Amino acid sequence: MQMNHTVYESEEFRQMLRETSAMKEPPVTDGSLRQAFFINRCRQLVLEKEKETGRQPTFHVVTFGCQMNERDSEKLRGILMLAGFSRTEKEEADLVLYNTCTVRENANERLYGRLGSLSTLRKKNPSMKIVLCGCMMQEKDEIERIRQKYRYVSLVFGTHNLHRFAELLCACLMSDEQIIDVVDGTDAIVENLPAERTYPFKSGVNIMFGCNNFCTYCIVPYVRGREKSREPREILREIEALAADGVVEVMLLGQNVNSYGKGLDDGITFAKLLEEAEKVDGIRRIRFMTSHPKDLSDGLIEVMKNSAKICPHLHLPVQSGSSRLLRLMNRHYTKESYLELVERLRAAIPDLSLSTDLIVGFPGETEEDFLDTLDLVRRVEYDSAFTFLYSKRTGTPAASMEGQVSDETAHERFDRLLKEVQDIGRRRSSRFEGTVQSVLVEDLNRQEKGFVTGRTPHNLVVHFPGDRSLIGTICDVRLTKAHGFYYTGTIAPERAETV
Ligand code: SAH
Ligand code: SF4
Ligand code: F3S
Repeated sequence: MQMNHTVYESEEFRQMLRETSAMKEPPVTDGSLRQAFFINRCRQLVLEKEKETGRQPTFHVVTFGCQMNERDSEKLRGILMLAGFSRTEKEEADLVLYNTCTVRENANERLYGRLGSLSTLRKKNPSMKIVLCGCMMQEKDEIERIRQKYRYVSLVFGTHNLHRFAELLCACLMSDEQIIDVVDGTDAIVENLPAERTYPFKSGVNIMFGCNNFCTYCIVPYVRGREKSREPREILREIEALAADGVVEVMLLGQNVNSYGKGLDDGITFAKLLEEAEKVDGIRRIRFMTSHPKDLSDGLIEVMKNSAKICPHLHLPVQSGSSRLLRLMNRHYTKESYLELVERLRAAIPDLSLSTDLIVGFPGETEEDFLDTLDLVRRVEYDSAFTFLYSKRTGTPAASMEGQVSDETAHERFDRLLKEVQDIGRRRSSRFEGTVQSVLVEDLNRQEKGFVTGRTPHNLVVHFPGDRSLIGTICDVRLTKAHGFYYTGTIAPERAETV
């Protein structure tokens, strides 16, 4: 992965940093001005530490979960860097932050495992600060466990006060006590915070937060709160600033992007937002996730069809092919209506790539329900699919449903489904062999010297001969050989077929 280790802040935020640098008391707002004040204060504390130890303090951020968390981590890293810490890839840092996920039970167990090993590292560096945040921290039981058994954790905060990180960090740097600050919900959307992007040339952009759908298996609405859309002008301003900073690909992020705009006054929809995003100079590719099938409009299909920048790839989680289970899951569509939607999409955008999420072993799932899922998968022919074993999340309606499926049955079905989606995916993904595609080069190839790695608009990985100078550029590449889910290729003299 290409590391740029530079932080991006907007001109407005830079101004705020200057404005607050001489202030003695923090501004009484809940916005970015207040956070700018605390970044300045953190910087003084970090400098003092640096003088004391003779070296710049380091941080290490580990992100679990989805793109939403990835984007949040970029913001947390941005603040840590402005506060004067330097980034390290090693877990042996002065500040270690875990941005957690709780969508499935095993994610939680893995976190405690890592925390255990961290305590060994901390023995070598007793002033190490350990920070936990993210979705898992919104669960009361987990907070209790940390309070009781993980006293060496320095700071805990949740998803609703992430925008106050600079302030919490400041408190944490000044104290040896464990600080736990988790709130249950907020309407605040704080704009303008800095970020350190993983890739200089592509970026996620939050267009909304939270979720209102309450699928019966899912914990996300409980830990991320109610759905809130960002103002379109703020989103577009961010995309323009990213483009000016060298970003060519944006991924618009939300748990259900198709319901974007609900609750805003100006009649804005996701389709209209995409049309506006398309107009931003410098942006060459637009992706988005996740699309809930129940809210996917004809307007969106039309915009995708006519767009020169929106990539022909749609992640359209189906979860199950059984209409009976879909009702129990509270998904608001049936197998038939989903298949009909796929037909409309493919009629409008013939070479569209489709990917999906599938859950196996939802309570009450019978062999017949499962066969419906297999049937749907065969009919849609997904390019790729994420398959998950149902995980019981305490507090969700499905956790107390009858007919919990045994581990053995769930695993057996999972293996059958996985084989099916992989066979289909491999076949589908090979359909571009011999064609020329535009490829956004993301990195040097780690395995093969003299090769770079990039992605086609359909989100397929391609390795081809090239050097560092190509990273961040879009090249026309002939896909000479398909290897299942990736290709090898060579730079082509002719123009690519797609954007
Ligand atoms: N908002 C997105 C999904 C976010 S969670 C959507 O609705 O499509 C990502 C995926 O995790 C889901 O699509 C689902 O397949 C899976 N998932 C969520 N809760 C789960 C659970 N309790 N057990 C297993 N998989 C789950
Ligand atoms: Fe979870 Fe459903 Fe919301 Fe997706 S739409 S985050 S699966 S509740
Ligand atoms: Fe996990 Fe939270 Fe995303 S629970 S999947 S990190 S929204």
